Amino acid sequence: MSAGRPDPLPGVDGLLAEQLDYYRRRAFEYDEWWQRLGRYDHGADHAAEWERQVGEVEDALEGFAPGGDVLELAGGTGWWTERLAGTASTLTVLDASVETLELNRRRLGPRAGLRYVVADLFDWEPDRRYDTVFFSFWLSHVPRRRFAPFWELVWRCLSPQGRVFLIDNRRGLEELLVEHHIVEEADGVQRRTLNDGSAHRVVKVYWEPAELTARLGLEGWEAEIGGTRWFIYGSARPAAHARR
Ligand SMILES: C[S@@+](CC[C@H](N)C(=O)[O-])C[C@H]1O[C@@H](n2cnc3c(N)ncnc32)[C@H](O)[C@@H]1O
Repeated sequence: MSAGRPDPLPGVDGLLAEQLDYYRRRAFEYDEWWQRLGRYDHGADHAAEWERQVGEVEDALEGFAPGGDVLELAGGTGWWTERLAGTASTLTVLDASVETLELNRRRLGPRAGLRYVVADLFDWEPDRRYDTVFFSFWLSHVPRRRFAPFWELVWRCLSPQGRVFLIDNRRGLEELLVEHHIVEEADGVQRRTLNDGSAHRVVKVYWEPAELTARLGLEGWEAEIGGTRWFIYGSARPAAHARR
């Protein structure tokens, strides 16, 4: 455990380390999941429906117009980084895995205003503020007990008029298809396998749009979260009454 982490929670730090190790190992096969390839290939109809829902999420992000100085948390291999790069004035991409950021860097190529930061989100503070904070398929990896501290961090990343856009999984896909990489699930923790058969534990907290909107309201955010069948997405900003 890092000395910089506040509020050490019994058992959680080891799980977060395992989760990060899993993503470092998964870096080179991560896009198979996103592109429905290999063991995530469930046929043409499924792929078409996936594309349709991804298209809906992409349209929502486009409508949100992520502009100005943008911070992407847990940016991964860069599918969404590429989209953010189209509208951001500057783009900072943070991830704790050097492996995924290397793939991200290759995908994006050299661009003015693009900066990479290797850091552990549970042990990091921003050195400046941003107009937009974006994270996709990350919130579900934040343990419930770290939800409030995580959103306080997001708050500290934002300029006074700053906004957040998030995308994540919605429970349903795994139930529907029994995704083969999930071998066990209980209490917000999943055990998943990689292509080499090794098993790893990750945090996985599924939020429903209404539940997340309400919880964010309790934390001082105005949120508009919607969803497709397999994804949730939407925006948040500090509520006027809660702005500091
Ligand atoms: C499910 S992936 C999402 C990647 C990307 N946002 C996307 O949508 O393609 C989760 C990402 O979180 C990163 N990650 C895991 N633990 C982290 C931590 N403690 N701090 C920062 N990033 C972390 C992983 O390296 C991985 O890139």
